[in-house]
Amino acid sequence: MWGYDKKLQYPVNIKNPNPQLAKFIISQYGGPDGELAASLRYLSQRFSMPTEITKATLNDIGTEELGHLEMIGTMVNQLTRGVSPEGLRKAGLGDYYTDHGVSIYPQNAAGNPFTASYIGVKGDPITDLYEDMAAEQKARSTYEYLIDLSDDPDVTDILKFLREREVVHFQRFGEALRSVQEKLAQKKFYMNNLHTCPNNNTPPSCGCQNVPIISDCGCQNNN
Ligand SMILES: [Fe+2]
Repeated sequence: MWGYDKKLQYPVNIKNPNPQLAKFIISQYGGPDGELAASLRYLSQRFSMPTEITKATLNDIGTEELGHLEMIGTMVNQLTRGVSPEGLRKAGLGDYYTDHGVSIYPQNAAGNPFTASYIGVKGDPITDLYEDMAAEQKARSTYEYLIDLSDDPDVTDILKFLREREVVHFQRFGEALRSVQEKLAQKKFYMNNLHTCPNNNTPPSCGCQNVPIISDCGCQNNN
């Protein structure tokens, strides 16, 4: 279960409405590399992780992403607060206003609604953690693009904080990946998708002939 602190992880105090920026930033609410996708991805993947440390990492980061989702929703709310329907229409948010008013709806910048197809939950810890590292880099790139588009220092400051957190998450997932690889390299740990190298190549990480990490053994057998 979760506890809730009645405060944002980082303050959001945007003085000037800017519906054009809101239209872009909402992609980090419900877009492919946004915070809703991140939180659902990590909080779903955690159940099949092989170590308590990895589960905890996914739990921690997935929870923080929910906090980021709250920050993005607050940003969009402040950027559209008090803007007239005509102002929203001029900013390209006429379609949005038609369906959602000025509430916060999970969609990408182009108006496509959130879909669970944005996330992968494969059940293989190596696969999932590589996806998570890529997801963090994609989120970082998106924040970079939003910083490029922002002409408001109040907004840019928050975006820079969120970009920095994605870098930290990428590093933590890298540590988790290495811990899982070490765990899988132990002889008495079995996975139901254990890969066996037909050429008896020796992976550098374990020294045995059962190769849990395909990329380490160099053979082409992906069975
Ligand atoms: Fe993240």
